Amino acid sequence: MRQIMKITGPCRLSGTVRISGSKNASAAIIPATILAKGECILENLPDNNDTEAMLDTLRYLGASVTKLESSRVSIDTSTIDRCDPPDRLMSIMRASYYFVPVLLGTKGKAEVAMPGGCNIGPRPIDQTLKGLRLLGANVYVDDVTGKIMGSCDHLTGADVYFDIPSVGATANTMMAAVMASGRTTLHNAAKEPHIVDLANFLCAMGARVLGAGTDIIRITGGRPMHGTSYAIIPDQIETGTYMIAAAATQGDVTIEGVIPLHMEALTAKLLEMGVSVTTKDDTIHISSGRSLRPVEVKTQVYPGFPTDLQQPLTALLTMANGTSSVYEQIFENRFRFTAELNKMGADITVSENNRIAKVNGVEALHAADIMATDLRAGAAMVIAGLMAQGTTRIDGCHYILRGYERMDEKLRALNADIECITTED
Ligand code: EPZ
Repeated sequence: MRQIMKITGPCRLSGTVRISGSKNASAAIIPATILAKGECILENLPDNNDTEAMLDTLRYLGASVTKLESSRVSIDTSTIDRCDPPDRLMSIMRASYYFVPVLLGTKGKAEVAMPGGCNIGPRPIDQTLKGLRLLGANVYVDDVTGKIMGSCDHLTGADVYFDIPSVGATANTMMAAVMASGRTTLHNAAKEPHIVDLANFLCAMGARVLGAGTDIIRITGGRPMHGTSYAIIPDQIETGTYMIAAAATQGDVTIEGVIPLHMEALTAKLLEMGVSVTTKDDTIHISSGRSLRPVEVKTQVYPGFPTDLQQPLTALLTMANGTSSVYEQIFENRFRFTAELNKMGADITVSENNRIAKVNGVEALHAADIMATDLRAGAAMVIAGLMAQGTTRIDGCHYILRGYERMDEKLRALNADIECITTED
């Protein structure tokens, strides 16, 4: 079975789109429900394949998970009776290793396959291992099985200084620290919106976590944790993807249910290009003409320009009036998709060290049959398909379905000619 996204362009997006819950916040909050005794009700969960995989993992471990409505779920993990999530689910996504700290913190044991996720670099987990070891866990990667093996009698608060403001390591160590006796301080912590959302969820369950969103997070562990109701924040990267798609199609689009503050780095860059961006309460309105200025963009940790929007923005830059430079400073291999865009007539050259892409703007892109290399590359290719003359077919769009809720439906509602086709071979 293959899933192919078929897009006929060029089109001009117009209308209103509502953003779903954050994939990367849900990826941490769903495993974090293991830390509570009692029922958790999660609202605004995105309906995508990663969410389903996370919920299926909870069920496999013995939790009861009940879908109340499309984006509202009841979870009770008090019946969990095993510590070894299934490899097939762990290999799908990067966030699967979030099960390690929560199983260590509640069961004193974890046996979890190495995480999967987008192939955009080596993506080591050394900072997570460092954080968990400093809290007293015996945790290592088994040379034979390749699994993350963890055990601990108890966890004790500690000072943790991350060598890199890693999102995953910050989330993992924060969840373990909540179960550790005493105080933990995380230094050089990640500040992404989904880290703040996870911290808020932990506090809603009874934890004491201060400073999330800054580079120093202070946790007082060992407090009783109870069930709660919680609404996931809107997805920062889905929001940015639709902002860019609207600009790329000279569209006129209102994006609803967003947090404009989370979008400031992208908003600034689009304004620099000559795109009209206006924000009001929880909406962002985008309108744009054909003539866009080239720019220089450097990916950074939050609040800098998000690496997850680098690929969609690069697609937009293929039709700017001049040469743009894109510096990917977070991941080692996040430009593989540019070869696919060049099949559509784009003119992108990538430096030898895979860190800089020069994008020479062209008059028009033409349709082609291309292959998505990862989640955000897939989104970039959809944007290119909306811009291109003719019918583009994107193979491998299962990546897109991992991280975007009903992207084809949402784009059709904005006047795009797009459909997701499943083929037998
Ligand atoms: C999270 O990945 C996101 N995934 C990624 O989103 C996002 O691109 C990334 O953060 C950066 O914002 C989820 O939240 C599920 P990191 P993560 O640990 O946690 C290096 C998407 O498209 N590093 O902050 O893996 C690492 O190699 C996905 O939604 C170490 O060296 O990111 C990378 O170069 C893609 N050692 C950099 O740090 C470590 O122990 C950032 O990694 C950990 C990371």
